[in-house]
Amino acid sequence: MLRLGFDARVVCSRGHLGRPVGLRRQILDAGCGRGVGLVTAGTLHPEASVLGVDLCHASLADARSEIERRKLTNTRVEEVDLMTLEGLDVPDGGFHVIYSSGVLHHLSDPLAGLRNLADVLAPSGVLVLMVYGAIGRRHVKRVSSALAAWIEPGLELSMQLGQARLFVEALAEDSNPDCPWSEAAKMPDTEFADRYLHPLETEYDVPGLFDLVESAGLRFLRWCCPEQWSLDGHLAEGPMRDSIEALPERERFTVIEQIVRPRNMQAYLCQQGNGPRRLPPAEEWDSLSFAVNAEVHFDVGTRSLWCSTRMESVTYVIRGIPAQNLETPILAGAGLILSGQNEPFLGSTLIGALVEDGFSPAEGRQVLGELLRRELIYVPHPADLQ
Ligand SMILES: C[S@@+](CC[C@H](N)C(=O)[O-])C[C@H]1O[C@@H](n2cnc3c(N)ncnc32)[C@H](O)[C@@H]1O
Repeated sequence: MLRLGFDARVVCSRGHLGRPVGLRRQILDAGCGRGVGLVTAGTLHPEASVLGVDLCHASLADARSEIERRKLTNTRVEEVDLMTLEGLDVPDGGFHVIYSSGVLHHLSDPLAGLRNLADVLAPSGVLVLMVYGAIGRRHVKRVSSALAAWIEPGLELSMQLGQARLFVEALAEDSNPDCPWSEAAKMPDTEFADRYLHPLETEYDVPGLFDLVESAGLRFLRWCCPEQWSLDGHLAEGPMRDSIEALPERERFTVIEQIVRPRNMQAYLCQQGNGPRRLPPAEEWDSLSFAVNAEVHFDVGTRSLWCSTRMESVTYVIRGIPAQNLETPILAGAGLILSGQNEPFLGSTLIGALVEDGFSPAEGRQVLGELLRRELIYVPHPADLQ
């Protein structure tokens, strides 16, 4: 599985500014921990320079040995405090992608940490941020607040864990699916300690997140998973929904947050001079280069017949959402082509292949639009085509 938001080409394609052509891509994982995301980025982008920084020696040692085991010559780690960035090796022009996943909310001053990262983000760069969501984690907060008040202060972590376990087990109601104590009681120790016994933790709601981003001089580009911020499945189409959709961004997401209650806030941020990408009009797509979104997995269902194989269905999974069908023959045909497509391709190539299958060029162009809308394909920046 690809870690969410870890394909730098897809991430950067969302902003209208691209990295200068010919410049090596520079990636920073700020607070890389044991290197799970770092190693993903290093493996996905052998042409890039990938640096992970963290404060924890044990995590850095684990990350280093994983880098060596995988022989990733483009990836390295350094000990750096995100509160100062002292000793950080900043490339000329800054980093083109910065990942900060599950880190800022543990800093003593998250705003100072984000400002530091903004200072080293390239003008065309994108910062992939994940912080805890306050609304979706209310049930977690109930448990952690109760434990913080109940457990004797100053105990070492293993003792805290023992007491906390007794506490949640006493309150667990296994028959109640919404019981926060049961959820905690079922959790393995490491995750339990990280989630409920973390001494330093700030959670964000939408207004809080937008304030944080703006105060750091950055701009909200989009959510990593826009589908988690959609009213689909919560509110039927109609005037009420239209009125929410018509609100300015911050107000719209503030309303949606209370309805969908996301546990994490995962967003792409950019510099003020960057912003959402607008694509050229459909008439120019023939000569435009597209690529398959690395966050998508296609599945082609076939059936063996007497002496041939027939395609029965083409489904796809994007960002862990349950499989969706490419329901029309032309979409399924395009999906079949994309499932074997590893390199960027010209719009005319896909349209031409669909024309050979009996569809019209106009239908081919419409399909390109639909594939873009579903985010199965994207338009890489010129520097990413080299
Ligand atoms: C929950 S882990 C997330 C690790 C990784 N980003 C991931 O997604 O798997 C948080 C990490 O932030 C690191 N961290 C906390 N404060 C830090 C600081 N001031 N400077 C650098 N790293 C820090 C911790 O050591 C820990 O590895």
